[in-house]
Amino acid sequence: MAKMEVKSSLLDNMIGVGDMVLLEPLNEETFIDNLKKRFDHNEIYTYIGSVVISVNPYRSLPIYSPEKVEDYRNRNFYELSPHIFALSDEAYRSLRDQDKDQCILITGESGAGKTEASKLVMSYVAAVCGKGAEVNQVKEQLLQSNPVLEAFGNAKTVRNDNSSRFGKYMDIEFDFKGDPLGGVISNYLLEKSRVVKQPRGERNFHVFYQLLSGASEELLHKLKLERDFSRYNYLSLDSAKVNGVDDAANFRTVRNAMQIVGFLDHEAESVLEVVAAVLKLGNIEFKPESRVNGLDESKIKDKNELKEICELTSIDQVVLERAFSFRTVEAKQEKVSTTLNVAQAYYARDALAKNLYSRLFSWLVNRINESIKAQTKVRKKVMGVLDIYGFEIFEDNSFEQFIINYCNEKLQQIFIELTLKEEQEEYIREDIEWTHIDYFNNAVICDLIENNTNGILAMLDEECLRPGTVTDETFLEKLNQVCATHQHFESRMSKCSRFLNDTTLPHSCFRIQHYAGKVLYQVEGFVDKNNDLLYRDLSQAMWKAGHALINSLFPEGNPAKVNLKRPPTAGSQFKASVATLMKNLQTKNPNYIRCIKPNDKKAAHIFSESLVCHQIRYLGLLENVRVRRAGYAFRQAYEPCLERYKMLCKQTWPHWKGPARSGVEVLFNELEIPVEEYSFGRSKIFIRNPRTLFQLEDLRKQRLEDLATLIQKIYRGWKCRTRFLLMKRSQVVIAAWYRRYAQQKRYQQIKSSALVIQSYIRGWKARKILRELKHQKRCKEAATTIAAYWHGTQVRREYRKFFRANAGKKIYEFTLQRIVQKYLLEMKNKMPSLSPIDKNWPSRPYLFLDSTHKELKRIFHLWRCKKYRDQFTDQQKLIYEEKLEASELFKDKKALYPSSVGQPFQGAYLEINKNPKYKKLKDAIEEKIIIAEVVNKINRANGKSTSRIFLLTNNNLLLADQKSGQIKSEVPLVDVTKVSMSSQNDGFFAVHLKEGSEAASKGDFLFSSDHLIEMATKLYRTTLSQTKQKLNIEISDEFLVQFRQDKVCVKFIQGSQKNGSVPTCKRKNNRLLEVAVP
Ligand SMILES: Nc1ncnc2c1ncn2[C@@H]1O[C@H](COP(=O)(O)OP(=O)(O)OP(=O)(O)O)[C@@H](O)[C@H]1O
Ligand SMILES: [Mg+2]
Repeated sequence: MAKMEVKSSLLDNMIGVGDMVLLEPLNEETFIDNLKKRFDHNEIYTYIGSVVISVNPYRSLPIYSPEKVEDYRNRNFYELSPHIFALSDEAYRSLRDQDKDQCILITGESGAGKTEASKLVMSYVAAVCGKGAEVNQVKEQLLQSNPVLEAFGNAKTVRNDNSSRFGKYMDIEFDFKGDPLGGVISNYLLEKSRVVKQPRGERNFHVFYQLLSGASEELLHKLKLERDFSRYNYLSLDSAKVNGVDDAANFRTVRNAMQIVGFLDHEAESVLEVVAAVLKLGNIEFKPESRVNGLDESKIKDKNELKEICELTSIDQVVLERAFSFRTVEAKQEKVSTTLNVAQAYYARDALAKNLYSRLFSWLVNRINESIKAQTKVRKKVMGVLDIYGFEIFEDNSFEQFIINYCNEKLQQIFIELTLKEEQEEYIREDIEWTHIDYFNNAVICDLIENNTNGILAMLDEECLRPGTVTDETFLEKLNQVCATHQHFESRMSKCSRFLNDTTLPHSCFRIQHYAGKVLYQVEGFVDKNNDLLYRDLSQAMWKAGHALINSLFPEGNPAKVNLKRPPTAGSQFKASVATLMKNLQTKNPNYIRCIKPNDKKAAHIFSESLVCHQIRYLGLLENVRVRRAGYAFRQAYEPCLERYKMLCKQTWPHWKGPARSGVEVLFNELEIPVEEYSFGRSKIFIRNPRTLFQLEDLRKQRLEDLATLIQKIYRGWKCRTRFLLMKRSQVVIAAWYRRYAQQKRYQQIKSSALVIQSYIRGWKARKILRELKHQKRCKEAATTIAAYWHGTQVRREYRKFFRANAGKKIYEFTLQRIVQKYLLEMKNKMPSLSPIDKNWPSRPYLFLDSTHKELKRIFHLWRCKKYRDQFTDQQKLIYEEKLEASELFKDKKALYPSSVGQPFQGAYLEINKNPKYKKLKDAIEEKIIIAEVVNKINRANGKSTSRIFLLTNNNLLLADQKSGQIKSEVPLVDVTKVSMSSQNDGFFAVHLKEGSEAASKGDFLFSSDHLIEMATKLYRTTLSQTKQKLNIEISDEFLVQFRQDKVCVKFIQGSQKNGSVPTCKRKNNRLLEVAVP
């Protein structure tokens, strides 16, 4: 599909009409309305064909940004909304690409924005042309020339705070690539009268104020200046400060700019010295002085200022002083000096100041030119920018306005010429029949002014050069004579009586019908201003100055080059320079910027219709439109035209296959546009009337809407269908997926249901089988049980008789047997140790085994005792037998017994065999000695005790003296009847003897021994073994003993402590023997 190219056009989104050529109907009112409408919408630029009308917005608009530069760069003129950049781009591109020198003519009244426009053009060109260090330096120098020239050539006026007081034409030179090489500046007619006098509310040139505000103290001192503005007569004080302008800062900018442009330090200094000198000149005052010859003379009041000026400029003070007092006229080698009166002196002073300043300005321009001059000699392409005053129609119009308006007439002429020429050329080029264009040609006015024989300027010069009295009035008279018949010249006093009664035309004035309106000129001052006289004495004084710059400014002061010819008048100078300018411009392709000032208040948003109307008139803008529209109002190349309107015809829409021209033909035929409304050129279609174009535009708009609707419709249809198809496809996919999912789900449901049913059935089946099996089992069990019961019943029935008699006993026995068995087996494991003294015995398990348990314990004890005994030797056995005997005899009867259990029975304590003392005793005893021990024998009479050896043999009991061993008594055991002792813990015992025996003569024996138990036991055992009779052993605490004839009672008393722990024995009386036991 072919891509549709969308091209924007000036005609898109237009506010009012962007091109006045298209204005329908065309008159002043619609023209102003259109401007106003656009101005109100911040559209300050409007075209008249290729001319740009610019309305000063008096505020910064965001339409000059680098982005905007990019927007307009390399775009066709009519492609975007009107802009000064579009014009600049067009001019620059045709310069670069088509090798056509360009000029940009900027006109408009003071404050309309000419200087700003020229700067915008320069900055645009600087932005789009080549780059690189060298190129950038050139650009910078060109741009920085502006601040310098503005400082010296601009001033605050009532109309504009930064009014250019000179005309400026700048040629910017480019190489073949379009890179800037340099430039040339020409200046026109600086308003030098401003140096000495400023109208109310206006200022002198900026540089004076900038110098005084911005210079350092040091510099001021050097220039012999004071900072105070009021010190200087040439500076008007009522508007010394301008709102929003920082003079001091601007001074720095200017000095910086001078440096960039290439001024050397000493040059910049010289310039400032001249400025200071001018300022100080104003302070020179004169006083009248009468001379003897009656002529008036003047004298300088205070010479101090003069002295300082001379110091500053290195002029001989005397010379200068003289130049202010005398005037020398030279004629034919004759020198005549006349004195100057005060008025003449002031005139001379001011003339010097004005000349000094204007020459300085020209010098500056030349100096800048020197710096920005293109360095190469290669062929250059040139773009000229003309920032010159527009038509001026004031209440009082003087020589300056005349000159300015003359210049504008010339510019208008060139405009007409060039526009028409171009138009004509185009017609020829395009092969279109040239029809006569009805327009006003101002050549006749130019002729009125500049004609060499009878032009106003020539008349003026003639008057000035004429010997005799020359005044403004004589000049007017001359005009009245010469120009009276001229159509555009009006004067009350002219020969022509037309204006005799015209009261709007004063006598001292003449009026010219300029192409832009009638202007009334006051004739006063014309001659003087044209003469522009500086007395030769002053120029010579200046030439003599030691100051190089001043010296160079006044070359005519050099006496060697005295030229008696008058210098050219201001008028002829201007005429010449205008002629040069025009010649220059004629070789170039013109581009016009017409600046309009919307109000007098320098304020934004105010659009004063009357003021604008005035400007439109004198700028001749309607004329412009008319000229432009003289043939065809609109023309366009075939391709863009077809591209723009092809949708209006079926054959050309959407694509036209053939050549564009035939496409346009088909299109116009189809649209039934009257044939007289258009012509076909070679490459362009020419439309006579804007109406036709607007019809086309309307149709196009309508058609675009229809097309938009159609596109919308198709797009919507397409979109809906695409959506529908997508949805349909999606629906199928979703349905498929859903079906699959539903089937899957259903299948899974069925499957799980089948499983459930299956499991239920299986369960049911299994339960059924189980039930049957259980039933069968139960049946079997029942049968078995029944059978068992049956058999049981049978058996019981059969064996009932046996069971009843024995069963219980048998069971009992069996059980008992089992229990006993178990008991005994357990006992076996729980047996205590074999130690006879071990008291442990397992607890009894059953009550009914109590006796058995005890018996078993006893038997076990006996058994282990036996076991224990079986270990004994015979001797041990004997000892234990004795101990056993003792136990039987005394245990629990005698308190002494327990202490004897631990003592071994030794029997023979006295070792009679070994002791030789007892040899005799031993020898006397043949039998075995059983006891040999020392005892205490209690004296029967007093109870006192004596030691005796107590000996027991198998048959006898012997008592022997302990010392001698002599036997004292011998008792056969058969005579021993009884042994008595107490139950207490004493060792007393009585041995009773058989009554009537030999031994018994002295009575029974009472002894005390430590081994009572042993002795009594052995005595008993020996007696028993010898006599086979048991010895009677009496244990009592009171017993009777036979002492000789007396029966004495031995009584044991407990508790006496008299003799410590030893029992004491005492005979109380015949019948009582008391033994005290402790
Ligand atoms: N395009 C613009 N955008 C914003 N302000 C502007 C523009 N053009 C002009 N001005 C304002 O208007 C003032 C006057 O403009 P400018 O100095 O260019 O006038 P001029 O036509 O050169 O006047 P003169 O003939 O007195 O020199 C400027 O100082 C600026 O404030
Ligand atoms: Mg200006």
